[in-house]
Amino acid sequence: MKHLIPEFDQMRRRFPAEATSSMVLPCLRRIQDDRGFVADSDIAELTAYLGVPRIQIEEVLAHYTQFRRAPIGRSHLQVCRNLSCSMRGAEGVIEHLCHKLQLQPGQTTADGRFTLSTVECLGSCGTAPVVMVNEAYHENMSPAKLDALIEELGK
Ligand code: FES
Repeated sequence: MKHLIPEFDQMRRRFPAEATSSMVLPCLRRIQDDRGFVADSDIAELTAYLGVPRIQIEEVLAHYTQFRRAPIGRSHLQVCRNLSCSMRGAEGVIEHLCHKLQLQPGQTTADGRFTLSTVECLGSCGTAPVVMVNEAYHENMSPAKLDALIEELGK
């Protein structure tokens, strides 16, 4: 994280001195963009840099599911399992992916290509069921579309 300090210093100039704790979220986002996840050492270093209690950083990490605490596969498949997606077959999507990739939600394939996660509403309920792969949405998913997607991502 140390190489990000100059960026954080610039960010700090935009925050009132008494609002240092407001920097926790953008700093964690930047760390994850850089490393792919937030490591224990990042938490310790950010705690020291911002001068906020470690628990404050850990609370943010626990609250926002977007943050990862361990490395993930090259393609991160996040399947929405909330109401609209559930009603339109999200459980089948999850089962299909588990079977096809031979893993369970929360796991990464041995070759490091795929990580499967289940998440709450992705904000695209009208096109359920939805799978987000890294930053891209894949909507109205079906077994055939999942197979084509995995094929494409595996290349
Ligand atoms: S319920 Fe799945 S995107 Fe909203």
